[in-house]
Amino acid sequence: MLILAPSILAADFKNLGQQVTDTANAGARYIHLDVMDGAFVPSISFGMPVIASLRSCTDRIFDVHMMVEEPGRYVSDIKAAGADLICVHAEACRHLDRTVNQIKEAGLKAGVALNPATPLSVLDCILPELDMVLIMTVNPGFGGQKFIPYTLEKVRNLRSMIKQRGLDIDIQVDGGVTCDNVRDLIEAGANVFVAGSAVFKGDAAANTRKFLDIFEEY
Ligand code: DX5
Ligand code: ZN
Repeated sequence: MLILAPSILAADFKNLGQQVTDTANAGARYIHLDVMDGAFVPSISFGMPVIASLRSCTDRIFDVHMMVEEPGRYVSDIKAAGADLICVHAEACRHLDRTVNQIKEAGLKAGVALNPATPLSVLDCILPELDMVLIMTVNPGFGGQKFIPYTLEKVRNLRSMIKQRGLDIDIQVDGGVTCDNVRDLIEAGANVFVAGSAVFKGDAAANTRKFLDIFEEY
């Protein structure tokens, strides 16, 4: 199934609840929540109180992208705030297996994110444990950046690695995803699409529907 995960980073924060409700009602299945600590990435975004207060807006899947050093420290707090899925960066975890297991033991879905320049080989051992792999298609830290073209090949290679090993794992892409490049990403094997600017700049409901119309072609 092809899933849209609007990233609220690009939303109008003074109308955040309404913006989330608009995209959810238009058919977005996930809400992508970007937590940034100013250490793993240069910027600081938002944390548990914002996630917790949005929880009452929608029952869509809360997909929390932790751009945080040693995210294992926050698994129980993020769960309490209402996360359904937690994605951690391989580059940010000294003990990736422990952190992934912490997420799963908390009863949540677990994902691992890779920066553009991180090779797929870091997933070799952990892959069967995962529900999702997030291939960053920009360098994490900011919305509104340009898609890095070489990441398309990475998605293709990951999809064949998953297939070869007989696994069933979602591939999420995040950064610079638009209605113009989403078909290439679908064809490369991605199935969960984060979009910040492409959803929230303008009419969030109409932009959501544009993506869903493209998904209908597949
Ligand atoms: C970037 C974040 C993204 C960001 C995407 O570090 O992880 O989720 O909000 O924004 P766009 O879609 O505008 O590139
Ligand atoms: Zn993200």
